[in-house]
Amino acid sequence: MKQTAWAPSNIALVKYWGKRDAELRLPLNASLSMTTDEAFTITTVEFSPEYLRDTVEIDTCTSGVVPMEETAAERVLEHVGRIRKRAGSTLFARIRTKNSFPMGVGAASSASGFAALTVAACAALGLELSQKEMTILARLGSGSACRSIPDGFVLWEAGEHSEDSFAYSIYPHTYWSLCDVLVFVDERKKSVSTTDGMGKAMTSPFMDLRLKEIPRTIECVRKALEIKDIVLLGECVEREMFSMHAVMMTQNPPVLYWSDATLRVFRAIWEARSRGMKAYCTVDAGANVHVICGEEDAKKVAAICSGVDGVVKIVVCRPAPGAHTVSTHLF
Ligand code: PMV
Repeated sequence: MKQTAWAPSNIALVKYWGKRDAELRLPLNASLSMTTDEAFTITTVEFSPEYLRDTVEIDTCTSGVVPMEETAAERVLEHVGRIRKRAGSTLFARIRTKNSFPMGVGAASSASGFAALTVAACAALGLELSQKEMTILARLGSGSACRSIPDGFVLWEAGEHSEDSFAYSIYPHTYWSLCDVLVFVDERKKSVSTTDGMGKAMTSPFMDLRLKEIPRTIECVRKALEIKDIVLLGECVEREMFSMHAVMMTQNPPVLYWSDATLRVFRAIWEARSRGMKAYCTVDAGANVHVICGEEDAKKVAAICSGVDGVVKIVVCRPAPGAHTVSTHLF
């Protein structure tokens, strides 16, 4: 009853911001993403009659294995409870998880974290679900996690109800070696959680406008992917990111996730673009920048960003397969 899963994080090319139903994590809009191979989570889950309570540990790499911080652990256990109930089990679980990147800094650790947890816990309990059902279940843990279950380039349909708000692959990870140069400018935990920030999305006067624009944006990104046009894709993705952050900044209360270094990375990329480089910025709910570019420019982008004041780490990611079980356990 012990299983381990690997799950990639994902970078939203068209972002999800705002929920129709907070409990069911039903989004106000469809979103489209790319999984990221070097930003991932590995999670081992074991259910056993020998365990007298649930435990959640995190392998931090720097300070060894420690209990997960209380609020994060509560959310994990709520999700495990959901899966346990569905499998009709009453056994307690031991959970250990490890990220290849920092948690809670807007690098989508909840996406890879809840995707890995869902796949590992279902496997450990022998709960056999279709991929569609697995994405719906992962979505209940964290919205963006549903996009880390399928392979490569993934569309999450907003849907009307829980059963039709699911994610599926539109192209496998081998389709296009697009790079996401993940530029960390801040490894500290963000001050406003995604859940809290997103809860106020509708207070922005720009939200209605954003929602009207989304179908066109999805269309544009799908077209750019279909014809593998990095310029069309990048322009669309960068504009879309500013649309989401404009909403965040005009919510009540406003949220500004960027730091000074975020802006310095934008400017460095724009300056390189004026010299012909095809690289484009996107940012989730945090300060770190994802620079989207072709394979041919990834090294140059990384070199440019490493020279920007405030940049602490750079990880080059490419599209990845979806979440799956692996045979090496963390305990
Ligand atoms: O599902 P969450 O709580 O990880 O929300 C993700 C929100 C953004 O990262 C800002 C956008 C997105 O679609 O990934």
